Amino acid sequence: MSVNKEIKRITTHVLQAMKAQNEPISMLTAYDFSMARILDEAGIDVLLVGDSASNVMAGHETTLPITLDQMIYHAASVVRAVKRALVVVDLPFGSYQGNSKNALDSTIRIMKEAGAHAVKMEGGREIQESIIRILSAGVPVMGHLGLTPQSIYKFGTYTVRAREEEEAEKLISDAKLLQELGCFALVLEKIPANLARRVSEELLIPTIGIGAGSGVNGQVLVTHDLLGITKDFQPRFLRRYLELFEEIKVAVEAYISDVRSGDFPNDKEQY
Ligand code: KIV
Repeated sequence: MSVNKEIKRITTHVLQAMKAQNEPISMLTAYDFSMARILDEAGIDVLLVGDSASNVMAGHETTLPITLDQMIYHAASVVRAVKRALVVVDLPFGSYQGNSKNALDSTIRIMKEAGAHAVKMEGGREIQESIIRILSAGVPVMGHLGLTPQSIYKFGTYTVRAREEEEAEKLISDAKLLQELGCFALVLEKIPANLARRVSEELLIPTIGIGAGSGVNGQVLVTHDLLGITKDFQPRFLRRYLELFEEIKVAVEAYISDVRSGDFPNDKEQY
């Protein structure tokens, strides 16, 4: 019997049980009430209020500009919609790297003001002090290794990470450290599939991949990419399930045409 079919509310413990029973975890991003409601009703396990909101909602080139206040606004909208999924919220750039007190203050705002269930943070040993402090306040933490978009200016490109031995070894040791510290799950972004499989096999906590192949314990995508709303973004790892940019455009063109011709509203569409 599937672990998650029975479950009324997904918790970090459910995700752990899913890994133990080899049940893949599904995760998508959400930033607003209406979309979160659809994804939750569809049965998604985890909703990530990602700082990718900076790209897809606000139109910035990177995830760096989004603020803590903006993340809280998006997260609160998502939490209001959700009945079943676990809601994880990204700590935005600048809200946790400085010192662990700052990290805890940012986390407490996210938990109190948005009603989130957990936070996600990018990085390994460099941020361990902040992770320890957040965990000690009783807040579950999801780690994020590999391509960490908040460090894009250090990397220089969005290309696959940890192809070289040295970076792969650091990633493995960071993954083990995050598990030891008490993180409940780990996102692995854009790394070779063999490396992601190895990390997933060596860890007890679930791994959730994006561009990390099929050997992980779950998959995450940016919802706007999966639905084809972000039409110019076509990385190899992405599977589009709809072409909504075009479909919405066609619908809006039809509406404009109906308004201009006087066809809308008709007799039945007025009081
Ligand atoms: O912000 C985000 O959407 C993410 C996912 C790509 C994992 O961190």
